[in-house]
Amino acid sequence: MKSLFDELSQNPPDPLFGLNAEYAKETRPFRANLSIGVDIDRPNTAPSIFPVVKKVEKEILEEEKTKTFLPIAGMPEFIDLAGKLIFGPQVSDRIVGLQTLGGTGALSMAGEFLAGEITRSICLSSPTWANHSGIFTKTGLELEAYPYWDGQRVPFDRIVDYFRSVKPKTAILLHPCCHNPTGLDFTREEWKALSDLFLKRNLIPFFDFAYHGYGNGLNEDRLPIDLFMEAGHEMFVAYSFAKSMGIYGERAGALFVVMQNTRARERVTNHLSAIARAVYSNPPRHGSEIVARILGNAAHLKEWEEHLRRRREGLNERRRLFGERLVGEVSEKYEYVIRGRGMFSLLDLSPEQVMRLQNEFAVYIPRSSRINIAGLFPENMDHVIKAIKAVHEKK
Ligand SMILES: Cc1ncc(COP(=O)(O)O)c(C=O)c1O
Repeated sequence: MKSLFDELSQNPPDPLFGLNAEYAKETRPFRANLSIGVDIDRPNTAPSIFPVVKKVEKEILEEEKTKTFLPIAGMPEFIDLAGKLIFGPQVSDRIVGLQTLGGTGALSMAGEFLAGEITRSICLSSPTWANHSGIFTKTGLELEAYPYWDGQRVPFDRIVDYFRSVKPKTAILLHPCCHNPTGLDFTREEWKALSDLFLKRNLIPFFDFAYHGYGNGLNEDRLPIDLFMEAGHEMFVAYSFAKSMGIYGERAGALFVVMQNTRARERVTNHLSAIARAVYSNPPRHGSEIVARILGNAAHLKEWEEHLRRRREGLNERRRLFGERLVGEVSEKYEYVIRGRGMFSLLDLSPEQVMRLQNEFAVYIPRSSRINIAGLFPENMDHVIKAIKAVHEKK
């Protein structure tokens, strides 16, 4: 008998999770997984749990009295504390916040809201995180792309030219720090220039804040948000706690909408809540409970900041070592790797070179040749450098 599903088409596997699954089957002793963006302590392990997260989980186990539903918009303390973390202590009534299913959920909800009520198109950096186009295509927004990479740096003049020609009221997706995949961010002056231009051209800033604390510091990484707030923008911020608290699978994220005044506050909340209600009804408790307990307790907060600082410094040090070896042993063009921040950098390799890394050296990176610096360790650095050198030399 014919099945309903016989004619079902096949989507390609997700480029990152698919590659990760392939790597799990890899048995060669010299191997390296530089694909998925997680921060690990040792090669071939899963990310460890931050000690302060374990501590508050024990508190939760002892003190939690109910598993009842959260409000549709999420846990109020979580939203309040996350808002203060992102916007500083002066979070105003002009900001509406909603708990979301990770940063992805925040992007997706904002996309649906934008498409339904505010604008027709969104402009993404080229290149950008692989999932952005999937998320926003699904919401019905038209996608545009601003140039973000010339092979070695961020071509700011071309970006400005591009934004001068974009239709007013286009949403512009920006990575406030640790740009995924290049690792290269705008300077303070460039952010200021963009802020002026966006105001003049009536463009909608939309920050995707997924690596807070992984760039230069918790305060430093907020720089563009501060500048745009000071300049009086209406804007969107999608925020993820996956990396900054190492709670990837708990799906703790938030969406904030900054408005010029409080007139539309209830209506914005109402629209976003309606989207959430129809998709998952209300968000999960555990991740937001962890975040609220850490951000709301001075001792836990300090411990988290300290742990995150150590992770950031360790990552930046590995980036420096890797970048210096690339420059010294492969090509001077890789100087930009040293300048980058966060987990990623682009190696600018062809898909053939990427496949050679995988087939000949068991070094796994996605076809885009984005490399996760957090997968590099003293144990595998020599092997990875040797592999990259080899695919550069032999055609
Ligand atoms: C740029 C960027 N935005 C958003 C996300 C999604 O974050 P989450 O895992 O919280 O959904 C990621 C995750 O890799 C990312 O790299």
